Amino acid sequence: MESVSENRYPNIFNADQAGLVNACNLLRSGELVAFPTETVYGLGADATNPKACASIYEAKGRPSFNPLIVHFHDLSEAQKRVVFNTKAEKLAQVFWPGPLTLVLPRTENCDIAELCSAGLPSLAVRVPGHSIAHALLKQSGLPLAAPSANASGKISPTKSEHVAYSLGNKVSCILDGKDTACAVGLESTVIDLTGDIPVLLRPGNITKEEIETVIGSIQLGKSLMESKAEQQVSSETPTTEDTCQTQNPLKSPGLLKSHYAPTLPLRLNATEVAGDEALLAFGNKPLLGSSCCLNLSEEGDLLEAAANLFAALHELDQNQGISGIAVMPIPDTGLGLAINDRLKRAAAPK
Ligand code: TXA
Ligand code: MG
Repeated sequence: MESVSENRYPNIFNADQAGLVNACNLLRSGELVAFPTETVYGLGADATNPKACASIYEAKGRPSFNPLIVHFHDLSEAQKRVVFNTKAEKLAQVFWPGPLTLVLPRTENCDIAELCSAGLPSLAVRVPGHSIAHALLKQSGLPLAAPSANASGKISPTKSEHVAYSLGNKVSCILDGKDTACAVGLESTVIDLTGDIPVLLRPGNITKEEIETVIGSIQLGKSLMESKAEQQVSSETPTTEDTCQTQNPLKSPGLLKSHYAPTLPLRLNATEVAGDEALLAFGNKPLLGSSCCLNLSEEGDLLEAAANLFAALHELDQNQGISGIAVMPIPDTGLGLAINDRLKRAAAPK
């Protein structure tokens, strides 16, 4: 299997059979593989492997946990992980495979890492149309979590070289889509179908009008309405991930609080723990005194801690007879930034 681009970027590989076999093996062992889709290149990881998903955030250098889109080979694979309603089924029939992402409730036995949902009860799912993405999903047999394959805050990549330039050796393998990749060149349209009225969270190639011809009227997400109002006063803005995030309704503080907070109060940077508190520990010296303790990582490994974070919070939050959750200090470096960002939101007054 040969890398392309005259080895200028040694991690770019042809997406031929040998390249696909190698990519599948890497994904199965928890590594990251960037692959072309019809929208932009995705930074893919086995969505059922929490550590692999955590390494996506690490590679992108994201200071917070945005939820991730999970890509499937076909509709039936997606249906095992999220609950489809009639409107979602209609949209999938018309627009899949293609540049449309549906946000739907996770199924009860959903095997996708909780990190992909960033603590939400929903999951964003998509069946991409590009032949290489399709082949990778089929041959690996894995659902793939994949945000755009660029460092946080940078422009989304539409060529394999863009990925190599932005992420360097943080990605083991970049499958080259050559001239066939990213015909759309813009991230997928994202629509939230978890409520009574569907909400457009991110505009894309599939338009509001096209969607409405299939399922009737939909609403614009709150932040999209805000950005529409802003556009009337400001001129052109560059299309970086940052500007995409201003369109992210999860940024709205009200939504963040109601979506992200556990029911129990959280106490951060705890140096001692009361008997009626649950303990979220980190490192090899967990505080003594709590009857209910989960350790994010005994080795003090931030990747492992990120992988365990949401599942641990959910589990501790379900304890009866506990007054709150005490959280031991987490270093504020690397993935620790995103972990602490999440914990601070969870600890904010409700
Ligand atoms: O075209 C695309 O969608 C590309 C390719 C690789 O598929 N992927 C992509 O992923 O753009 P990303 O992570 O850069 O953007 C995902 C968007 C974010 O705005 C995120 O907030 C939203 O989808 N999202 C993901 N899961 C969500 C959820 N459960 N609820 C609400 N929004 C969600
Ligand atoms: Mg992105």
